[in-house]
Order: sequence, then structure tokens, then C-alpha cells
Amino acid sequence: MIKVITYGTFDLFHEGHYRLLQRAKALGDYLIVGVTTEVYDKARGKLNVVDSLMTRIENVKKTGFADEVIIEEELGQKVNDIKKFHIDIFTVGSDWVGSFDYLKNYCKVVYLERTKNISSTMLREQNSHIQRIGIIGTGRIAERFIPEARLVSGVSTQGVYNPHEESAKRFAHKWEINAYTDMEEFYRAVDVVYIASPHETHYGYIRSALEHDKHVLCEKPMVLKKAQAEELFELARKREKVLFEGIKTAYCPGFHKLLGVAGSGTVGAIRNIEACFTKLEKADSRELTDPVYGGSFLELGSYVMLPILKLFGKSFEDIRFDSIRGENGLDLFTRISLKYPMGVATATCGLGVKSEGRLLIAGTKGYIVVEAPWWKTTYFEAHYENPGEIGLKFPKI
Ligand code: CTP
Repeated sequence: MIKVITYGTFDLFHEGHYRLLQRAKALGDYLIVGVTTEVYDKARGKLNVVDSLMTRIENVKKTGFADEVIIEEELGQKVNDIKKFHIDIFTVGSDWVGSFDYLKNYCKVVYLERTKNISSTMLREQNSHIQRIGIIGTGRIAERFIPEARLVSGVSTQGVYNPHEESAKRFAHKWEINAYTDMEEFYRAVDVVYIASPHETHYGYIRSALEHDKHVLCEKPMVLKKAQAEELFELARKREKVLFEGIKTAYCPGFHKLLGVAGSGTVGAIRNIEACFTKLEKADSRELTDPVYGGSFLELGSYVMLPILKLFGKSFEDIRFDSIRGENGLDLFTRISLKYPMGVATATCGLGVKSEGRLLIAGTKGYIVVEAPWWKTTYFEAHYENPGEIGLKFPKI
């Protein structure tokens, strides 16, 4: 009996998938189909899968070609599956030519001609309204936004606004988007506004974007006054628009997992949190020279305060700031100490002093440690009384 195996996401099941499975089955007598899990797809950067794993499995089964369906949950699984199931042929579409040649050590590898003019990506784009993004600002962070936005389906970067024509044109030319110097024209061309302009302009731009019924993503710090934040969120609610601040850590899947694990008693009741983030900046950088919006706390404070506020909440009994300041009065290093009824926390950030960037969550049964860059949270460990024994690792390896 010839055993064949193939893998895929099979999202929004289409003719290309059907034809691939039909020909895969025809290569042998028994076909195993591996369907990717959501976690695995996310881990490899496939962020916009529409159908659930159950639906995708059902769709593969409905074709009648699969004798067995398995799930693919991690990198490196294919080699083990091939050995485990005594596979004779591994097959996949021709978009992968060459990528799986390493499997030739274990079985025959066949690349089947991909069906033209159809893909899950195409269907996702047809099914959903594309949100046109307009960028306000042309600085360093805006430069990083565009290539990353290209990895996300359902959005397209339409143009950039900058009151300085030269800057708008230079940026637009580089990224092949439109340049706008007229605000009204800019708003007519976009559905979503991403604000990456100097901090002091955030409030005005957010207000005007919401008043033009645009969704808004704004770089941190969104605003510096609580009342301004409250006013803008209230306006967004009234206009039924999304407004959110770009603190990436808050949206990292690993950080969510960390909060879940820490909050579920894995290390007992949490009593101490220490978060540190330092980044050495040049003395003439905006961060160390802007008298109003510069300094360590404004730049990095939102990261180090995030795990503390998420786990301990906002009702601290006491808060104390200690800073080391440069000649211009800006803080080069700041330590914030918070006291809660049942715990204490320290948030440390610095632009002129380097320290170990670590997040530590200590509880009555053990502690969780996340090494730098913990603000991207790709890995963490839980330890107990004997620190050498790691009780839990995320992600599993
Ligand atoms: N496939 C194919 N012809 C197509 C689309 C996919 O033969 N037009 C094959 C792929 O080469 C792969 C399998 O179907 O062997 C599953 O592919 P998958 O990645 O799930 O589908 P795509 O449509 O390529 O998805 P996406 O657009 O998200 O990459």
C-alpha cells in the first residue's frame, strides 16, 4: 500500500484545494491530510485565517479524498509524521517547489502543479471590505509600519499626510503610496488613520480623525492627560469608531498567555512584580532632548507599567517616582514603586542607563520570569522552590 501525506491550512476551501487533494489521493492508496492549527498558523505569520480548525477539517473530509486527517501543530512535525505513519510520498502544491526537498531523505517528494487564479488570500480579499489606511507622520516609526501592514490582509496603506509637502512626497515616493498635504482630501481617501506624528500633535489629529468618522490607531503615548484620553475615547464611542493606542506588548499573543498563566494561580497569589526596560539613546536624540515629551518615563513607561496594571489593577495605595536626571532636566532613568494592599511592584525604565530588561512575577508558590525582550513575550518560564526545576515553559519546545 502506498501512503501519501499532504499539509495545508485549507482556509475558505476552494477549487485549488479540491484539485490538490484529488491528485494527492491518486498518487497512492491511502491519503493523510495534515490541517494546521490556529496557533501554528499564527506562529508562522499567517494571521488572517477565517475558518476555524473544525470547519477546515470538515471541508477536507467532505471531499472524500482523505483517508485520515491529522492536525499540524508545530514546526518540524512533518519529519516525525512521515516516520510515524510510514509515508511513501509527501506532496504539496508547486508554490512550495524546493521548500520540502529536505524530506527526500525520508520519502519521495512530489510538487503538484498549483491551480491558477485561486487562493485563500484572494478569497479573503474579495470577501472583506479592504480598510484603507492613511498615515499621519513620516518619521522612523511610520517607516516601519508600512512593510508590516503589508503582511496583514484586509488592509491597504493608501497614503500619507504631512503638512510639509517635501516630507510627504519623499515618503510617498519611497513606499509607492499617495502624498497628501490637504487634510480633507486625505480623509476622503482613507477609512483608518494611523498616527505616528510628534507626540504633541496626537490629541488634535485623533480628534479631527474621529470627527471625520475614521478609525484611529495612535502611537504611544497617545496623550499625556487622563482627561484628554477620556474625552477621546468617549468621542470614539459616540461615533462608533475604534480608537486604540499602539502599545504592541498589549496585543502580543505571548503576553496574553502570560497574563492568563500568572492570573490562574500557577505561582500562587502574586505579591511582587518587577518590570524593567532600558534602551540607550544618543544624547542628541529627540527622546533625550524634547523638553516636554522626552525622557525615559514618557518613552518607555507604558511598557513597564502595563504588566503591573494588568495584574494588580489601578487601585494602588501609594506610588513613588525616583529619577536620575540629565542636565536638561529630562529623566535618564526612572524607577516607579507601587504599593498595593496585597503586593508591591517596581517599574524601571531608562534611556541613559542600561540595565537587565526582565519581567519577574513573584507569588506565594513560585515565580514567572520573562527575559528581554519581555515586551515581545515570545518565551517565559515558571519556577518553584527549587529554581533549577522549571515548572512550565511557554511556548512548549
Ligand atoms: N493549492 C493549490 N492551488 C491553489 C491553492 C492552493 O494547489 N490555487 C495547494 C497548496 O499548494 C497546498 C494546499 O493547496 O499544497 C493547501 O494550501 P493553502 O496554503 O491552505 O491554500 P492557499 O490558497 O495557497 O492559501 P493562502 O492564500 O492563505 O496561502
